Amino acid sequence: MPFDDINYPENPNDLEAFWMPFTANRGYKQKPRLLTRAKGMHYMTPAGREILDGTAGLWCCNAGHGHEKIVAAIKAQAERMDFAPTFQLGHPAAFEFANRLVDLAPGDLDHVFFTNSGSESADTALKIALGYHYVRGKGSKTRLIGRERGYHGTNFGGTSVGGIVKNRMFYGGLLSGVDHIRHTHDLEHQAFSRGEPEWGVHLADDLERLAALHDPSTIAAVIVEPVAGSTGVLVPPKGYLRRLREICDRHDILLIFDEVITGFGRLGASFAADYFDVQPDILTTAKGLTNATVPMGAVFCRSKIYDAFIENTEQGIELFHGYTYSGHPLASAAGIATLDVYREEGLFERAAALAPYWEEALWSLRGGHHVIDLRNLGIVAGIELEPRPGAPTARAIETLHKCFDEGVLIRVTADTIALSPPLIVEKSQIDRIFDTIGGVLKTVD
Ligand SMILES: Cc1ncc(COP(=O)(O)O)c(C=O)c1O
Repeated sequence: MPFDDINYPENPNDLEAFWMPFTANRGYKQKPRLLTRAKGMHYMTPAGREILDGTAGLWCCNAGHGHEKIVAAIKAQAERMDFAPTFQLGHPAAFEFANRLVDLAPGDLDHVFFTNSGSESADTALKIALGYHYVRGKGSKTRLIGRERGYHGTNFGGTSVGGIVKNRMFYGGLLSGVDHIRHTHDLEHQAFSRGEPEWGVHLADDLERLAALHDPSTIAAVIVEPVAGSTGVLVPPKGYLRRLREICDRHDILLIFDEVITGFGRLGASFAADYFDVQPDILTTAKGLTNATVPMGAVFCRSKIYDAFIENTEQGIELFHGYTYSGHPLASAAGIATLDVYREEGLFERAAALAPYWEEALWSLRGGHHVIDLRNLGIVAGIELEPRPGAPTARAIETLHKCFDEGVLIRVTADTIALSPPLIVEKSQIDRIFDTIGGVLKTVD
């Protein structure tokens, strides 16, 4: 890979200034793990050591790293036009990308609002949901419902409807008028389910409980991840999402699927909405949207939502919301190329075909040291470890570090290992990921 044009040292001499996100800064800076290059299924360290990517970066490089077609599209767009506003102006790449996206999306999710991240997509979706009811004259519908253990990014809206304690506890009261349904994780009834657990559809009825408590006339929307990722890979019980849909229909509550992780082939379908055959009203994405090359998010809305804003606004701007970089030209060009790659290389179909092999390889860890649950769907896996007494998360973090030393990148969240390699992963690489984890777990207290 030519490095002549790179304008920074490959081995930085001071790590202090960068306040790293979701990182134990002190520990990291004493023993940094730097990644300097990436291609296909691998990262490379400054010393030239290859690291097999078991997590597609952060669940986002679904087509693998450094795809030439995507790189070329970004370069060409940067040369043609670096930036153009999309407030009262526009440029062809954003329109083309939006058209391509709605063709891919299920049902009548016919309109796309562009953001720059999953967090912004979540907040955008929540604002659109509130505005939708407002413009229809249902301004009392202001309550937002999330789910315990949910993750919808780190902006105030997403943090408020999110349900991960540490992400919330430092930040005061957050948004008012938010409530949460129960999470769906129950080891007693679900441990070692393959795919969707048989037990737990009734947990969706918790939405009915909140509708009764608050009255449906006050509830705008419910937001869930179809498969909860950041909390440790929680696969929904069979029938759960469909039942949420039914309850939403009964009470004129919008159903928002946060597909930042599950979108773009992760489950072996375009979206989890396709996989589960459940139609959300709003669907949020980011990450795999551009194969993570240029930051971007997209919020898909059903026609009835877009139309409500258009029809109920007599003149001028219909939605007072947007970002300087909504539909950024580089991101749009990257996204168009990414969709081409997904289609031309058949990556969603490839993921579906690989899923049974992935599941069997995961299941080789059954009975392994410290393993108290295995969860999987599509090309996602969760390996829950028994926490070390008195030191929650320590066992998982030690496993992460040792796997990295062995040349395999995994991700951990609390005491669960979460895996989601690029969809180009080979069977031999799947074996290597699970063999490495199994071997490392034997060496961890
Ligand atoms: C389901 C979900 N929503 C939102 C986000 C936030 O995305 P971002 O980090 O791009 O803001 C994430 C990130 O992991 C996610 O998994």
